[in-house]
Amino acid sequence: MRSDDEVLVFDNDRALVSAAAGAIAEHIETRVADSGTCRIALAGGSTPQPVYQRLAAMQDHVEFAKVEWFFGDERCVPPDDDASNYAMARDMLLKPVGAPTERIHRIKGERPAQEAAAAYQTELGDEPLDLVLLGMGTDGHTASLFPGSAELESDQQVVATQSPIPPHDRVSLTLKTINAARAVLFIVSGPAKARRVAEVMAEIDAGTCRLPAARVKPTQGKLQWFLDESAAHLMRARTP
Ligand code: 6PG
Repeated sequence: MRSDDEVLVFDNDRALVSAAAGAIAEHIETRVADSGTCRIALAGGSTPQPVYQRLAAMQDHVEFAKVEWFFGDERCVPPDDDASNYAMARDMLLKPVGAPTERIHRIKGERPAQEAAAAYQTELGDEPLDLVLLGMGTDGHTASLFPGSAELESDQQVVATQSPIPPHDRVSLTLKTINAARAVLFIVSGPAKARRVAEVMAEIDAGTCRLPAARVKPTQGKLQWFLDESAAHLMRARTP
């Protein structure tokens, strides 16, 4: 780990959810104070859901109206599909905080993946994201970047990818875009992730980063891992 990277371990999922929501709120407030806005890419999957609900409950303290909402990845499904990352974020966070439609930059999963990727890349523009939220799969994937995939080497900002787990067609930010962000925040919980978390941290320490999650190393930005004990317990004692 680089000196300013942080691996934070919390006793249980509840403490993790509260701390992660607080950290995201702080990133938003700091960035809005500095620049008038915050360009944040939301993670998909199940882990972030209680974090988004907790964040939505903080709307009296956070200027959500100034946030530009992006997505780290999307499944190629319609926006109302149960598998849609947009639908999950809309229901857990964007609708509850009244996010203005014009500030929600959805990946158009209902379109063919290549077309959706190209359109999203245009919408994303060249400005670095202020904060990228990420989860990690039990195989070490993050966003929709899967182990061994050619897209890991892409110099594009957004790519169409194939997931081994359905929905297979995906659109994802690339490592290039993720690593250009001002801050990246992983949220990983549960015993099923423990072995892979330990492997990822060992790869980072050894400098032999093969797994997608291990290759998230913001060039200038801050990297934080928010873990609960059940996901972190196999990590060997972390040398500073
Ligand atoms: C997705 C996510 C993906 C997710 C991991 C972990 O579209 O599914 O972007 O990268 O973060 O698969 O998912 P869980 O949080 O559901 O374990």
